[in-house]
Amino acid sequence: MGYITKVVFRIGGINISSLQGKTAIITGASSGIGESIAQHFAMEGANVVLAARRKDRLESLAQRIESEHQVSAKIVVADVTKQSDMENLVEETKKDFSSVDIFINNAGVMLLSFLKNDKVEQWEQMVDVNIKGVLFGIHAALPAMLEQEAGHIVNVSSVAGHEVFPSSTVYSATKYAVKALSMGMEKELSRTGVRVTNVSPGAVSTELPEHITDEEVLSMFEDRKGRRTLESEDIARSVVYAVTQPSYVNVNEVIVRPMQDK
Ligand SMILES: NC(=O)c1ccc[n+]([C@@H]2O[C@H](COP(=O)([O-])OP(=O)(O)OC[C@H]3O[C@@H](n4cnc5c(N)ncnc54)[C@H](OP(=O)(O)O)[C@@H]3O)[C@@H](O)[C@H]2O)c1
Repeated sequence: MGYITKVVFRIGGINISSLQGKTAIITGASSGIGESIAQHFAMEGANVVLAARRKDRLESLAQRIESEHQVSAKIVVADVTKQSDMENLVEETKKDFSSVDIFINNAGVMLLSFLKNDKVEQWEQMVDVNIKGVLFGIHAALPAMLEQEAGHIVNVSSVAGHEVFPSSTVYSATKYAVKALSMGMEKELSRTGVRVTNVSPGAVSTELPEHITDEEVLSMFEDRKGRRTLESEDIARSVVYAVTQPSYVNVNEVIVRPMQDK
């Protein structure tokens, strides 16, 4: 790779790190927030490794990124619930790039349901993807970052990881877990050079609610149609902010909610 490894800009006397030549792994890059983070990172000069299960979506995103920006975009098909897939994701990254600078634990599912409707398989799926997936991401990426004495892990939680709503009970439990992981990582890693950011979006217009099957939740959502939501790029810009601060600045928590009409 002939890219510059580190560029620092001085803006108003502050050193702002560029993403030029850095390598970022993004899980859940096949749609929504993950896809937008990948595009914004590429726009800022980062090489991106795109992970998800839908290979066709990853391939078309990688093609778009490489045609629009002077960066490399590699795809790795990975199911975050499989430890070996996440280990392979980092191994594949190391084959092509000299470092693992940023790891975005973004893949997630939001299968909202009321407890009385007993959708136990969906509870399990949320625990597997939203908690175990993040843990496997940390397991796979952290050793390389500790060895480099530098890196940044971004965990995508949710406003539902700060508040619990009717029908979000299990989803919120998983997102509170993500927040707890981020808080513990910040405490344990602050002397290692590895930074941690917990990102908590409010409602963002993506495919996420399309997998909900609880009829009562779906009709509740019908009543809420017309409410303002965020776009994926609103979250992507906040992630770019978090990962481009000077190396001594640890942006631990970012919460982004949509404004509502007056
Ligand atoms: N949209 C919102 O309102 C909102 C609000 C707060 C937080 N969030 C969080 O933001 C993150 C991204 O969600 P989104 O809104 O962008 O939804 P999305 O468009 O549905 O994206 C979810 C991503 O997760 C991936 N994924 C799901 N299960 C996976 C698995 N087992 N292995 C690998 N990848 C998997 C999907 O890819 P494949 O299906 O191709 O595998 C997809 O790329 C999630 O963690 C979500 O909880 C979203």
